[in-house]
Amino acid sequence: MLEFVDTSENMAAIGGLENLKNWLAQRRGAWDDAARNFGLDPARGVIILGVQGCGKSLCARAVAGEWKLPLVKFDTAAVFDKYIGETEKRIQQVFRVAEGLAPCVLWIDELEKVFAGSGPDSASVDAGVSSRILASFLSWMQDRKAPVFVAATCNNVTALPPELIRKGRFDELFFVDLPNQAERQQIFSIQLAKRKRNPAEFDLNQLASAAQGFSGAEIDAAVQSALYAVFANQQSLTTDALMAALAHTVPLSTTRAEEIQSLRIWAKQRAVPASGALAIAERASNLA
Ligand SMILES: Nc1ncnc2c1ncn2[C@@H]1O[C@H](COP(=O)(O)OP(=O)(O)OP(=O)(O)O)[C@@H](O)[C@H]1O
Ligand SMILES: [Mg+2]
Repeated sequence: MLEFVDTSENMAAIGGLENLKNWLAQRRGAWDDAARNFGLDPARGVIILGVQGCGKSLCARAVAGEWKLPLVKFDTAAVFDKYIGETEKRIQQVFRVAEGLAPCVLWIDELEKVFAGSGPDSASVDAGVSSRILASFLSWMQDRKAPVFVAATCNNVTALPPELIRKGRFDELFFVDLPNQAERQQIFSIQLAKRKRNPAEFDLNQLASAAQGFSGAEIDAAVQSALYAVFANQQSLTTDALMAALAHTVPLSTTRAEEIQSLRIWAKQRAVPASGALAIAERASNLA
């Protein structure tokens, strides 16, 4: 029900998202004795929501890597059982195991799926079970004594029960938007370096401009597909080869523009932007 996840990544693997990175950096070590004596409460957790493929899961992994804590992932499918009562028992077990591992990071991926169907108007047959699970989760979030930092990631906010995002349960709610020009440059640089290329040999500015509207995952995929193409032709990777790969991709932000726009509107009222001030200003001026 809990799965150990590799945490070799750290914050340097993430392009952009400066606000979120700074917030996490400030909370590093907030559970050791020195912090407690200083009067700090250990951080409880964070919800990272936003556009698909923009680094939410990457951030959850990097927090644990950066803080040098074990990372355990909540396996939703393994926790839910068709027998009434069994699921609730398992949830309690998950909490106990996580506390036994503390200090650790508990990653709940696709938070909205865990609590789907727990809304009061849900027609789903397991509504009763889901809302009891939500209640036990909320009380555990509030009362637990062991330092378990919960990193929850989420794509679909319409399915999130409002109780979850109410203040006091999680410390902060971050919204991850599509990367802006500077962030895309950083992502290209990270992805190229990851594949043993020297980013200084590429025109990152040109690439980032051509990748407007691309998510980090789409940039990652374009770099991979360019590598396949040049490898097959026994050529070396160039800016032109990358430009060709970008030209063959229609980003999700084009096909799902409406969905992303409604997510932005929702987040504007409720969430803190994960990007730094500069990126936010640039996006605003693009929209104007
Ligand atoms: N900001 C970023 N910096 C560097 N790489 C990124 C970034 N965003 C995405 N990527 C690349 O895309 C891959 C997928 O990103 P990730 O799984 O974190 O996205 P996600 O937001 O969790 O998406 P999903 O909504 O589909 O779960 C990463 O492994 C990484 O290679
Ligand atoms: Mg993810």
